This record gives sequence, structure tokens and C-alpha cells, in this order.
Amino acid sequence: MKKIGHRGAKGYEPENTLVSFQKALDMRVDGIELDVHLSTDDELMVIHDETIDRTTNGKGFVNKLSLRELKVFRINRTYEIPTLKEVFDLVNQDCFINIELKNYDTAEKVVSLIEKYVVKKGWKYDRFLVSSFDWNALQQVAFLNDKIPIGVLTETNLDLALAFAKFIQAKSIHPHFHLLTKENTAQMQEKGLQVFPWTINELEDIQKIKTFNVNGIITDFPNRI
Ligand code: G3P
Ligand code: CA
Repeated sequence: MKKIGHRGAKGYEPENTLVSFQKALDMRVDGIELDVHLSTDDELMVIHDETIDRTTNGKGFVNKLSLRELKVFRINRTYEIPTLKEVFDLVNQDCFINIELKNYDTAEKVVSLIEKYVVKKGWKYDRFLVSSFDWNALQQVAFLNDKIPIGVLTETNLDLALAFAKFIQAKSIHPHFHLLTKENTAQMQEKGLQVFPWTINELEDIQKIKTFNVNGIITDFPNRI
């Protein structure tokens, strides 16, 4: 069962920062999950919200600010908003990177960056897993490069997500953990999909979901897995 650090190790360090990803790597995660938005000059920025208001000391929409402008602001008075490149450069151990596309516009840039790092670092495509609630964005990724592993995110409709996952030949399905049962987990796996529920933090929930034999757990507290 794979342990996947949500926004790095969000339970211990500020989410989606290099220090948070390093913490997750130190906890020997199998994968890290992160979120991406595009800056106005098309840089892939690792940040969850469409604005910088909640997590930094600045204000404004990510897609209305340039890389230079975004780099001025600080998370917890200390850390910069990382770029996706910076996270790729940080990961030097056997760990996959689950990139969640927060909107359609990021799809093409993420595909290009993955292709670049496959050459630059000699990584295999299975070092990456691109997921999204925006299934059009996933379709665009599959259209641009069908070697990139895809994960279908859903918070509400497992049947629809399963049908779509089969349609685009996804590697995995990422349901909110409340949607899961032992039976539907097995059904998805019988159809060839890996099951990576999110975001499971409480020990009681972790223990319960483990009994469903999921393929991995996305958590803020990787050491609890
Ligand atoms: O990828 C799983 C999970 O991160 C999706 O929800 O809001 O934490 O990005 P959110
Ligand atoms: Ca996410």
C-alpha cells in the first residue's frame, strides 16, 4: 500500500512548499501530491488555491501575476511559492509525483515539463501521475501524450469516474474516501484501476480504509500510514 504525502507533508509543514515535500521525502513516501496553477507568464506554480490570499502574505490571482511577482510573497513569512520545476529538481529518490491540475490551462505545460524531465533526469513516465477533477484537462493530457499516467479525481460520482477512467485508460482513480467500500474498491481494481483515496488523516479512518485493500492513501500525515 503506497503512502502519498498530500501537498507534501501538510500535517507537519506549510502545504505545497519545498520544505513540506522534503519532509514527505524524509518520511520515505512512495509519492507526493501537489497542485498546480499557471502564472501570467506561463510558469507552473505549485499552489492549491487560485489566489495567493490564504497561503501567502500577498493578495491576488495566481494567473494575474508573473513568476517574478509571485516569488516576492512568502508562505509563513519564510517560504516561496515553488515552481513545478523546483519540485522536480528536489526529488532525487524513488518517489512518484502526483500533479493535480487545478484547471485546463495547465495541461499542455505539465505535459511539456514531464517530457523534458523524462529526458533530463532519465525518469520513466511512471514517476508521474497527473490527476484532476477537470476531466477535460485529463483528456487533453491523454491526447498530447498517452504515456503519461492519469488519475481520475472524484468527490461525488464513483460510477461516472469509473466509466471515464476506463474511457481514457487511466492508471488510477482517486475518490474521496467517504465514497469507498471494500466491494467497490475491488470492483475498480478488477477493471485494472489502482485506487488512491484522499485525504485520510485520522488513524481510525486510515485503519478502516486499509481493510479495503486500496493501492495507496493520500494523507497529510505520511508517517501514520
Ligand atoms: O488529490 C487529492 C486531493 O488533493 C484533492 O483535493 O482540495 O486537497 O486538492 P484538494
Ligand atoms: Ca490536491
